[in-house]
Amino acid sequence: MTSLDMTFVRRQFPAFAVPGLADKAFFENAGGSYACAPVIDRLTRFYRERKVQPYAPYAAATAGGAEMDEARARLAAYMGIGTHELSFGPSTTANTYVLAQAFRRALLPGEAIVVTDQDHEANSGPWRRLGEEGVEIREWKIDPATGHLDPERLNPLLADGRVRLVCFPHCSNVVAEINPVAEIVAMAHEAGAMTCVDGVSYAPHGLPDVDALGTDIYLFSAYKVFGPHQGIMAIREGLGMHLPNQGHWFNGETLYKRFTPGGPDHAQIAASAGIADYFDALHDHHFGAEPDARKRGVRVHDLMRAQEVAVCQPLLDYLNDRNDLRLIGPADAARRAPTVAVDLGRAAEPVSVALAARGINCWAGDFFAVRPLTAMGVDLEKGVLRLSMVHYTSAEDVARLIAALDEVL
Ligand SMILES: Cc1ncc(COP(=O)(O)O)c(C=O)c1O
Repeated sequence: MTSLDMTFVRRQFPAFAVPGLADKAFFENAGGSYACAPVIDRLTRFYRERKVQPYAPYAAATAGGAEMDEARARLAAYMGIGTHELSFGPSTTANTYVLAQAFRRALLPGEAIVVTDQDHEANSGPWRRLGEEGVEIREWKIDPATGHLDPERLNPLLADGRVRLVCFPHCSNVVAEINPVAEIVAMAHEAGAMTCVDGVSYAPHGLPDVDALGTDIYLFSAYKVFGPHQGIMAIREGLGMHLPNQGHWFNGETLYKRFTPGGPDHAQIAASAGIADYFDALHDHHFGAEPDARKRGVRVHDLMRAQEVAVCQPLLDYLNDRNDLRLIGPADAARRAPTVAVDLGRAAEPVSVALAARGINCWAGDFFAVRPLTAMGVDLEKGVLRLSMVHYTSAEDVARLIAALDEVL
């Protein structure tokens, strides 16, 4: 099996050559990844050469508009959805907020929404607030010992057929266990409900094939996927055209404008085409040319995942063997994203400070995952230490982290 060429990979990220970062091991990727060179280049070019109202009939505006269209088309192709089914918003939190406003008007009396206590607040709070307007909110709870979200526990919540929407994460940003999205979506659809999947913690490890997962909505944040600070929303046409338009009334026939009430960030959308440039380069370097974007996506996903699993396992083994801390989520790297939260039983922030002094950049706190951490009995005052990796994290980075943890803990 082809393995990831780390020299090639790291060359695509200018941060690895920047003084002040080049000598550090980076473990705050789940907060925001480094941006890849094509994204930075496109963003810079847009601001220098195309920073005008896009789509107007002169060269700079035409090029800017075309680049925005290109970003949507190429990312949508990777995800197995239509270009019109992909839209950008300021963040995933803003995207769920807008979606919740749309569902608020679409739900009928007596209909319900399922939320989890495994989600980041972004895919939880906006839905729960609909409870104040009479929508019934049902909570699908995690196992407090493991953080596991058991699909069996969803069944009773769906039994009366009144649930219209099930909101859940592809994986949590603290538990990190990969949820069986296609299976959960099938259960929800069987019960007449739609699904909204928060993929923010999963997408950095490989863009999902949204069509294969079957979900009606899939959300993630480009700034954690080597791109600019944007939220990306995939919404299938059937649902998107059924929900009430949240944009300007005269844009209501255009699906990708229906859930973007503010003006879009032209430059960042255009720069997002750089994410596709990077994944294409990664693909072609390892496998040669392939015209089908979904096939390229699967290969790049598997390539990155294999690297991440191999690099993450020694850290999980090290943490699991210690009896002075609690590893959150599975100890098997293959079952989780390489986002590793640890309850130290003491304040975690000073430990991240001590690690920074040793060249390990990471952080501590609740990471807006207040509900799962509370459900698991973590003291929010102390918080968790989070060590998060992506495919560019090297085995040497992890060895350095383990040595630093040995000194600090
Ligand atoms: C799992 C998860 N969902 C949602 C969000 C919110 O994303 P955004 O910052 O784009 O609103 C985050 C941010 O950390 C996250 O980790």
